[in-house]
Amino acid sequence: MKKVRVAVIGCGVIAPTHIKCYQANEGAELVAVCDIIEERAKKLAEEYNVPRYTTNAAELFADPEIDAVSICTEHYTHSDLVVAAFNAGKHVVCEKCLAASIPELDAMMAAANAHPELVATGIFQHRFTAINRELKAIVEEGLLGRLLTSRAQLYCLRTDEYYKSDAWRGTWKCEGGSILINQAIHFIDQMLWISGGPDLNQKPVAMIRNLNHEGVIETDDTAAAVVPLANGALGVIEATSASFHIWHNTLSFEGTKGIVEIRDDKPLSIEFKDPEVQAEVTRRLTDAAKPENLDFGKEYYGGGHPGQINDFIAAIQEKRAPYVTLEDAASTARVILNIYEPFRA
Ligand SMILES: NC(=O)c1ccc[n+]([C@@H]2O[C@H](COP(=O)([O-])OP(=O)(O)OC[C@H]3O[C@@H](n4cnc5c(N)ncnc54)[C@H](O)[C@@H]3O)[C@@H](O)[C@H]2O)c1
Repeated sequence: MKKVRVAVIGCGVIAPTHIKCYQANEGAELVAVCDIIEERAKKLAEEYNVPRYTTNAAELFADPEIDAVSICTEHYTHSDLVVAAFNAGKHVVCEKCLAASIPELDAMMAAANAHPELVATGIFQHRFTAINRELKAIVEEGLLGRLLTSRAQLYCLRTDEYYKSDAWRGTWKCEGGSILINQAIHFIDQMLWISGGPDLNQKPVAMIRNLNHEGVIETDDTAAAVVPLANGALGVIEATSASFHIWHNTLSFEGTKGIVEIRDDKPLSIEFKDPEVQAEVTRRLTDAAKPENLDFGKEYYGGGHPGQINDFIAAIQEKRAPYVTLEDAASTARVILNIYEPFRA
């Protein structure tokens, strides 16, 4: 099968993860990297033996030899780059969060809808982890009974130095928020996805605070929100980047027949009314948490980014939708942008 020729746009922190995924995928050929800061593009091209680098993404969009692009730039740049990529006929991977504002997200989705022939995915790599897929199956099979509440919690630490390291972080215009849109977004997405999705017709209610980064960021380091879910249940979000924990996430699902909590991708607490269901769910989640079961089915290897990028390449070759559609990713982005809307400067 013809290889998919790819370029990675944005050569910062996350770019090497994408580069390594493409270079390990036999169906893909990484042909170029791009950054507006030339030395970053040059450095990655040299380090990873990428044949070409440029400072101009438009040059890559105009190149008929390039089939697909990974957008690895700051949140506020995603929409324009993705729209340009679609208009140039390129398949797209866009890092989270798809956009820093609702108008940016709307523009991206309008372009996506105008190009249904192109494969597009928004990165939510934790949807490729075995324990999350097993938990989703357990909820879908109705083993928890009627879902009542779902919860996504993240306690993490981001220092003043972290926020000061790049001008876009901690700003409404460029990052679009902070703790929810950048770090907690992964767990918000898992909570929404496992629960069957949000009800986008109802607005979330929320409070946000900057408790420990005053004078450093204009956005939130701490937030709590309640999100209406499509099945009538309530999604609860709690997150802070001012914790002593470097990274600590918990997902909880409470139903009429059972309660499941997982922390950092391992079962934390499993309680069911029926002892047989208790034993079955315990076995399934314990198995899924084993390191050897991190794979996403036999045609994928590893969890996270490799799983999602392999699926993206396969989707292009097989002319099918990716496992995480751009619409899926946009739905989570919209929940977060709706939470922030009343607080935006
Ligand atoms: N999925 C994950 O787990 C994960 C982890 C880290 C970052 N991310 C996401 O990846 C994205 C990038 O984050 P980062 O930490 O790598 O940021 P970064 O600031 O380290 O890198 C972004 C790079 O993009 C470049 N850039 C900006 N506009 C450009 C343009 N028009 N053309 C070419 N290059 C351009 C910048 O010069 C910079 O080098 C963000 O959306 C972030 O949320 C995702």
